[in-house]
Amino acid sequence: MKTKIVLLGPPGSGKGTQGERLSQEFGFVKLSTGDMLREAVRNGTPLGLKAKEYMDSGGLVPNDIIINLMKEKITSLGDGASVIFDGFPRTVEQANALGEQIDIDLALNLDVDDAELLNRLTRRRSCPKCNAVYHLDFNPPKKSGICDKCGAELYHRDDDKEETVRNRLKVYRSNTMPLIEYYEKKRKLKTVQGIGNIDEIFEEVKKAVL
Ligand code: AP5
Repeated sequence: MKTKIVLLGPPGSGKGTQGERLSQEFGFVKLSTGDMLREAVRNGTPLGLKAKEYMDSGGLVPNDIIINLMKEKITSLGDGASVIFDGFPRTVEQANALGEQIDIDLALNLDVDDAELLNRLTRRRSCPKCNAVYHLDFNPPKKSGICDKCGAELYHRDDDKEETVRNRLKVYRSNTMPLIEYYEKKRKLKTVQGIGNIDEIFEEVKKAVL
């Protein structure tokens, strides 16, 4: 089984959803830079204060901030850990920094078109406490507005507004999409069609990982 996995794909492609499934079924540690940054913003830490303006506009937080943050997290993992990176790396510079610390054995790319992404993100609801994600139509919580897992009140992320989503898609194309070729050249890339039933996509994801 692959144990050092990078999840690639545009905003809303299902990295968080599929990453969470993998971590529940196989015990992966899931490191999501988006979740870490949102927690820092909520807590008003120095990292959060720096990151907020970039996140609100849909831009990327500067590489040096992200690379330092992840260096510490990776160092604290321990040698035998099985780990999934969700939302990191997002630039070639970040991928090079990751490669200096860890040998990635799979870059799993979720392929989804823009119209679907826009619908998913504008109708997404997120849990501020345990980071679970829902979709009002495709994956609704059992009780409206409440997280199934921890009972917290769900919210609509500020950066899930249509205008910001469009900017995030542009930023994805210019900064992150080159990583598809980057990992393809290293023969680490596997692309999975990310449209359709979440359980069926998970079956394809598992085939790539096992
Ligand atoms: P981040 O939180 O990483 O956002 P993202 O990459 O834009 O990804 P998302 O969380 O929006 O989507 P996802 O692919 O996880 O999809 P999900 O499973 O939730 O980053 C946010 C910001 O932080 C960035 O813009 C940037 O500013 C900053 N940042 C983070 N990392 C950084 C880095 N490394 N460098 C610099 N800056 C960084 O699914 C989406 C929705 O679709 C949900 O509602 C879900 O229920 C639904 N869904 C999932 N699968 C399906 C399906 N098959 N069918 C129907 N609906 C589905």
